[in-house]
Amino acid sequence: MKKVVSLVGARPQFIKEAVIGAEVRRRNAWKHILVHSGQHYDANMSDIFFTELDMKKPDYFLGVGSGLHGRQTAEVLTKFEELLLNEKPDLVLVYGDTNTTVAGALAASKLKIPVAHIEAGIRQNPKDMPEEINRVLTDHISKFLFCCSDLAAKNLEKEGITEGVFVVGDVMYDLYLKMKPRFTPKETRELYGLEKDRYIIATLHRDFNVDNSESLRNIIEGLVQVKKETGLEILLPLHPRTRKRTAEFGMQSLVENLKATEPIGYLHLMSLTQDCAAVVTDSGGYQKEAYYAGKRAVVVMPDTGWRELIECGWNLLCSADAEHIADNLKNILVQLSCPTRIFGDGNSGKNIVENLLFR
Ligand code: UD1
Repeated sequence: MKKVVSLVGARPQFIKEAVIGAEVRRRNAWKHILVHSGQHYDANMSDIFFTELDMKKPDYFLGVGSGLHGRQTAEVLTKFEELLLNEKPDLVLVYGDTNTTVAGALAASKLKIPVAHIEAGIRQNPKDMPEEINRVLTDHISKFLFCCSDLAAKNLEKEGITEGVFVVGDVMYDLYLKMKPRFTPKETRELYGLEKDRYIIATLHRDFNVDNSESLRNIIEGLVQVKKETGLEILLPLHPRTRKRTAEFGMQSLVENLKATEPIGYLHLMSLTQDCAAVVTDSGGYQKEAYYAGKRAVVVMPDTGWRELIECGWNLLCSADAEHIADNLKNILVQLSCPTRIFGDGNSGKNIVENLLFR
């Protein structure tokens, strides 16, 4: 039986690993060693996902915590390399585009351990955003590249990567379908004091949006304007980075116009998304999850890796400008029909594990 080390560290990676881990357990496919880098560590950024998504407890916790990019990446690299030297796995799984992802891929590939990258081939501008750097580097040192869509595979082809590429669909769609029976929109709405179809959910955490006081102020002012003009409530679950910045930039009183909360776990966020009017986000994962829930999103980014959803007119790209945000939000309150199954059919986890098993 093969030994596989799966490395996670940040919120979106827990969600992806939940699908792979469950499929591996279901088939008893291989010895699966789960490693948590510690990049995200607050209970509502980490533990809650392990509990809600019935995940196995990590076998190792590297405890790297927050820090400058170089330090954080280096710490995962050093600690993970040591772990790999002891465990000697046949394969390493990495997910998405975080500092944990690139560090894990680098440690393994230098030790000549094959790397499988889940959510490979995503490309977006600006090219110097940390997540884009992490994706490009990880793709170029991975042996198996699992893509959510044909577009992602084409992106890899443009960079000369054609071997080991598999279009398998999105593991986040698998999870969405699996967990849907556990969503409780009415109860969760009541918990947050929200009325059906009468609120927008906004999430922000990208460095270019929240680390710049002007951008952050513009975005929040745009949201306040929409609230005033439409009477819709704005739910703003605050990522710790964003909370820190709003305090630093003296924006607390502006934020008080909105319904700001602590970060929200998977089940509650998906439950609330079922009944919202629309979404505003700069999260890669949440712009897709909104679509799975049949909700349109204003994506506050210069570009997105999920261009399929922009091209079909479902999601709208938007700059960090108050008027632009307000206009776009009012536009997406109109419902559209969008092609289904852009990112697979909910069997992505099965496709990934099968491809790795029979190789
Ligand atoms: C990271 C990923 C990003 C992913 C996001 C999901 C990188 C470069 N970015 O961004 O791809 O979309 O996770 O959330 O890896 N903090 C806490 N508690 C925590 C975690 C973070 O307080 O549990 C605060 C710290 O002040 C930290 C800041 O948030 O410095 C940013 O965290 P970090 O993991 O560096 O980046 P994210 O913005 O979360």
